[in-house]
Amino acid sequence: MKRFLVTSALPYANGPIHFGHLVGAYIPADVFTRHKKMMGQKVIHICGSDEHGVAIIMGAQKAGQSCKEYVDSWHKEHKKLFDLFNVEFDFFGQTSASYHHEEVLKWFDALNEKGLIGPKDTQQLFCQSCSNHLPDRFVEGKCYECDYEHARGDECPNCGILIDPTKLIDPVCKICGAQNTKEVTVTQWYLLQSKFHDHFRDWLKTKKNNWRKTVYPFVESLTEKGLHDRAITRDLEWGIDVPLPEAKGKKLYVWFDAPIGYVSNTKQFLKETGSEEDYLEDWWNNSETEITHFVGKDNIIFHTVIFPVMGMGSGRIKPPADVPANQFLNLEGKQFSKSSGWYVDIKEALDQFGVDALRYYLLSILPETSDSSFTWKEFGLKVNGELANNIGNLVNRCLKFWKKNWPEGIESKHFVGFSETSHAKEFQSSLEKLHEFLEQKQIRRALEQVMSMGQLANTYFSDQEPWAQYKTDPEKAAYTIAQSGIQILILGVVLEPFLPGLSGKILSFFSEGLNKEDQQKIYRGEWKVIDELFQNGGKLQGKPKALVPKIEDEVIEKLQEKLHQG
Ligand code: 2FM
Ligand code: ZN
Repeated sequence: MKRFLVTSALPYANGPIHFGHLVGAYIPADVFTRHKKMMGQKVIHICGSDEHGVAIIMGAQKAGQSCKEYVDSWHKEHKKLFDLFNVEFDFFGQTSASYHHEEVLKWFDALNEKGLIGPKDTQQLFCQSCSNHLPDRFVEGKCYECDYEHARGDECPNCGILIDPTKLIDPVCKICGAQNTKEVTVTQWYLLQSKFHDHFRDWLKTKKNNWRKTVYPFVESLTEKGLHDRAITRDLEWGIDVPLPEAKGKKLYVWFDAPIGYVSNTKQFLKETGSEEDYLEDWWNNSETEITHFVGKDNIIFHTVIFPVMGMGSGRIKPPADVPANQFLNLEGKQFSKSSGWYVDIKEALDQFGVDALRYYLLSILPETSDSSFTWKEFGLKVNGELANNIGNLVNRCLKFWKKNWPEGIESKHFVGFSETSHAKEFQSSLEKLHEFLEQKQIRRALEQVMSMGQLANTYFSDQEPWAQYKTDPEKAAYTIAQSGIQILILGVVLEPFLPGLSGKILSFFSEGLNKEDQQKIYRGEWKVIDELFQNGGKLQGKPKALVPKIEDEVIEKLQEKLHQG
């Protein structure tokens, strides 16, 4: 049986998660995984904290904590935030854990045995004031391509090029602040990707027609002429020891160990859940497994080139089926920046608006094909005009009417045969499209199908005018409400991957007899089950209430003001 292995980029355990992260990887991956679960397919969603590397060491130094204390506290913080956002992982591990280190060493040994790792002398910067090697972000200077003042030793955040630190203009040590560096020759161990070029290209070509247009052509042209060997060791105090006597004191580069976290976390997941499955044979190296890495666009190279080379080269895992990378999210047209106040505090926003409104808006602007922008104005318009109007109001109006006029329930005969009705056919067609879009990871378009089902349900309800029918023909009104109720139930079910919170609230009105299996049947379009659900009539549970609060214009105006004041 086919199985699906979904991963989300491991977040660095060194700072808060922001909306850009959420739309880049976590929310899309969550929707896709929930969809697969609702389809009744075998799927796991694996993630965890990325806890090594220079950024973590610098963050810990600044916070006056040990690296381990520092990453543990960010790990907890991130887990909490994901829970609040209803982003569900089957496992959320840590790369500082010993189970991860063990797995990484197996990869190093396998690649080394295959001749895909080797030493080379490299030119690096060394700080003569504090006597530290300055890899990656430990050094900053002016970019030699775009003149940006704060290019880092690994990349320039402005023009995006990978930086050769020895070429930086006026390099500054980020540890002690001195401008007193010298170039030294240091031996580092490299992943010899160049040897794997032909094999890699043969594999890459198989993705031509099914990877995103923002991913495949970029990777294709980048790797056309050859693959660069990459240094995978560093002179640092924190990280995984390089398992070679001649590399004593060196650590593995964070980007070598981080993606292996997907694999080690899967192993740990199976162990902690008492599964008898093997993480490699049954999952990562199984011909039935479809691997999907959800990442932001800045992580494309690592997931489409380096990690696949590591996986295929070591023979430990098979390469991914898809890497649906997302573009960037801006805030009102400019990059989010906490230091300059151009920022939205996610926790405050969650407290103020709740997860459904925020998830809805973020889903509707997912940067799937190009960069997109979060604006408070559009947030208010979409939540009020789409989510509240289309779904919230309908549920409220219909269910209140139901509860008021049939407090003891509507007779079963009114629910029978829903799947044969013409409105059910229209619903089915939207549902099929929704499934298709989700299979292609086009989540925005899938959400539009949910909203078009909402539109159909609204049209049916207002065309029938049950309030008028009730006065002249209460039986007819009972039929309308029963049929509208079924449509609301279906909406509640199909909302699950997108807005699990709202979905749960809607379904709670129908809770009697509605177990996970029935929900899955409805989600798959097997609507015969609906007849069974209402075979003893339809009595609503609880008291219907407004599920999507409207956002006042003044609230939005205040948030805009706050943002522009910085
Ligand atoms: O860019 C980032 O946030 C990295 N921490 C992503 C790592 S993804 C994976 F390879 F672990
Ligand atoms: Zn220094």
